[in-house]
Amino acid sequence: MYICPKCGRNLISTGKQMKCDENHSYDISAEGYVNLLLGSKKSGIHGDSKDMLRSRRRFLQQNYYFPIVENLVSVIERTTAKDSVITLLDAGCGEGYYSGSLAKILSEKGYRFQIYGIDVSKEGVKAAAKRYSELSFSVASINKLPFANDVFDVIISLFAPLSEKEFFRTLKKGGILLTVSPGARHLWSLKEKIYDKPAENPPPSFKPVLLNETENFTVGYRFRLSDNQTVRDLFDMTPYRYNTSETDYNKLGFINSIDTEAVFDFCAFTKL
Ligand SMILES: C[S@@+](CC[C@H](N)C(=O)[O-])C[C@H]1O[C@@H](n2cnc3c(N)ncnc32)[C@H](O)[C@@H]1O
Ligand SMILES: [Zn+2]
Repeated sequence: MYICPKCGRNLISTGKQMKCDENHSYDISAEGYVNLLLGSKKSGIHGDSKDMLRSRRRFLQQNYYFPIVENLVSVIERTTAKDSVITLLDAGCGEGYYSGSLAKILSEKGYRFQIYGIDVSKEGVKAAAKRYSELSFSVASINKLPFANDVFDVIISLFAPLSEKEFFRTLKKGGILLTVSPGARHLWSLKEKIYDKPAENPPPSFKPVLLNETENFTVGYRFRLSDNQTVRDLFDMTPYRYNTSETDYNKLGFINSIDTEAVFDFCAFTKL
C-alpha cells in the first residue's frame, strides 16, 4: 500500500521501520505512525495546531457530529460490496475521530476493512495512532499521497483540502471519494450570537473533471450545547477561531448554553 516518498517504490514494514528497495527508511513511532512527509519545514505546510486539535477532540468525543459517521456508512453500504476487504483512506484525518468511529460501525455491521489516515499535522496523527492503534496512520500531505496507484475503495475528505489528481490516482476503478463540507447555515444560531452580520458558507466548490459526481445531499439537524467549554471548543476547532475579531471572540465567554444547527453538504464522486 505505502510507497516511498523519495523514490516511489513500495515500502515494506520491518516492524520498527518502513523500508524501500533503495534503502530509504522511515521510523515507525512508539505510537505506531510513520512520518512520510518530506521537507515539511521548508514547504511551509502546517496542519492544525495542538490547541485546535484538543478542542476538536473534546468536542467530537461527545458525538454531536455522529450523524456524519452514520451518513458516510450509509453511502459505503450502498456502494461497496460486503464480501471483500474495504480499503479506506481518511485524507486529512485530524485526530482520527471519524476513522475510529467508522471502524467501529463498519465492524459492528460485519464489514472487513483496512483504514488508513493521513494528515500534515504530526500532533493529530500522533493522537490518532495512540487512540486507534488497530488503524494505520501517517504524516503526509494530501498533495503527495504515500500510497500506490489504484488501492482505495473509498477516500473520505471531511472539512479538509482536496487533491483531485492524487485521489484519482490512488482510488481503484469504481472507487468513491466522499466529501463533507459545512452547509450554508451551519452553526447559524451560534454565528448570530457572535457576529453582527453572520455570513452563509459558500456551496461546495470542488468540481472535479477526472471523477464523476454520483450523489450529493445535505444533512441538517439541531443540537444543544449546555456548557461554555463545549461552546468554546466548537468555535475553536474551526477556522473562525482565527478569522474573528477580539471583540466578537470575547462574546463566546457569555454563552453557557445554545441550541444551534448542524448542516453538512455531502458529495460522492466515482472513478469510472
Ligand atoms: C478542519 S480539519 C478536519 C480534520 C478531520 N477531518 C475532522 O473533521 O475532524 C482539516 C485537517 O486538514 C489537515 N490538512 C491541512 N492541509 C493538509 C494537507 N495539505 N495534507 C494533509 N492534511 C492537511 C489539517 O492538519 C487538519 O487536520
Ligand atoms: Zn525509496
